[in-house]
Amino acid sequence: MSELDVHRHPDDITEALRTDVRAGLSATQKWLPSKWFYDARGSELFEEITALPEYYPTRAEREVLGREAAEIARVTGAHTLVELGSGSSEKTRLLLDGLRGHGSLETFVPLDVSESALADAVEAISADYPGLSVRGAIGDFTEHLDLLPGEQPRLVAFLGGTIGNLTPVERGKFLRSVRDVLAEGEWLLLGTDLVKNPETLVRAYDDAAGVTAEFNRNVLRVVNQRLGADFDPDGFEHESYWDAEAEWIEMRLRASADMLVRIPGAGMEVRFTEGEHIRTEISAKFRAGGIRGELADAGFDVERWWTDSGKLFGVSLARSIRA
Ligand code: SAH
Ligand code: AVI
Repeated sequence: MSELDVHRHPDDITEALRTDVRAGLSATQKWLPSKWFYDARGSELFEEITALPEYYPTRAEREVLGREAAEIARVTGAHTLVELGSGSSEKTRLLLDGLRGHGSLETFVPLDVSESALADAVEAISADYPGLSVRGAIGDFTEHLDLLPGEQPRLVAFLGGTIGNLTPVERGKFLRSVRDVLAEGEWLLLGTDLVKNPETLVRAYDDAAGVTAEFNRNVLRVVNQRLGADFDPDGFEHESYWDAEAEWIEMRLRASADMLVRIPGAGMEVRFTEGEHIRTEISAKFRAGGIRGELADAGFDVERWWTDSGKLFGVSLARSIRA
């Protein structure tokens, strides 16, 4: 059985983008939230990124999940698996297999802003896991957590290192909101990319084939489509920058020339000078102690901590301990 709940309608999406574009592109340091990469094309480009030789996080996290899925099932005994920012849910199959093997799983609830990615995932998972109730939810994980269905105990998976795409303040707020919807004793499985040498990091976000550059420029195409803007995506250079102090990668789009961009749907015109950049994503990298502390601040106790064999990527299994 499968269904799709819509928490965010197309008109709301355009309104939310308008608000973000007005705030981000009128700031002195221009920025756009990274969630706007993910229309159908953006989600496809992200899937391509996950197979690139330079982009190690997906492979590293898959190694951990493959090795530990049975243990995760044993420890949590989850009846419901909720996945935030689920995308294609490909790696999630390892968890579904582990939980099914354990015999506890009844319901899978993938939630994503990308309608196309979610619809495809719900169809594929429903076909491959007969008897599993699959309840997809189109929504924003920073806003729509209170609407998550499912029998307790629930395991909320937030994979891929997507938590690193939130600012530290957003991260704290987000983790507390996850804690707030869970009962004491329910579970969070959190994937986090780890701090490592800057060359590896910068290359992971600036691949030789140029797929990440296209993914980055896709945000301009989304603004063109939804708000009738006239960005020329090819007029912007892709950049991957390691901020050693903040310990995050910044993806940037740098204007190759002076230009004026019209964005009628946001009622604005935006001037760029040559070399000026828009910050389109942060991707924070973590250390084990820092994650443990942030989870503790939000009301979670880390019960298991695993990395892949290359120590590139960390996965925490945390239990909610207090409201
Ligand atoms: N979890 C998958 C996909 C990661 S890509 C993996 O590990 O490979 C990030 C996913 O999060 C995309 O599918 C994107 O559409 C979704 N996403 C980004 N911001 C979101 C938000 N605010 N709310 C819900 N989904 C979001
Ligand atoms: C989804 N998220 C964790 C990816 C990341 O690595 O920050 C998005 C991405 N951006 C560029 N490449 C992949």
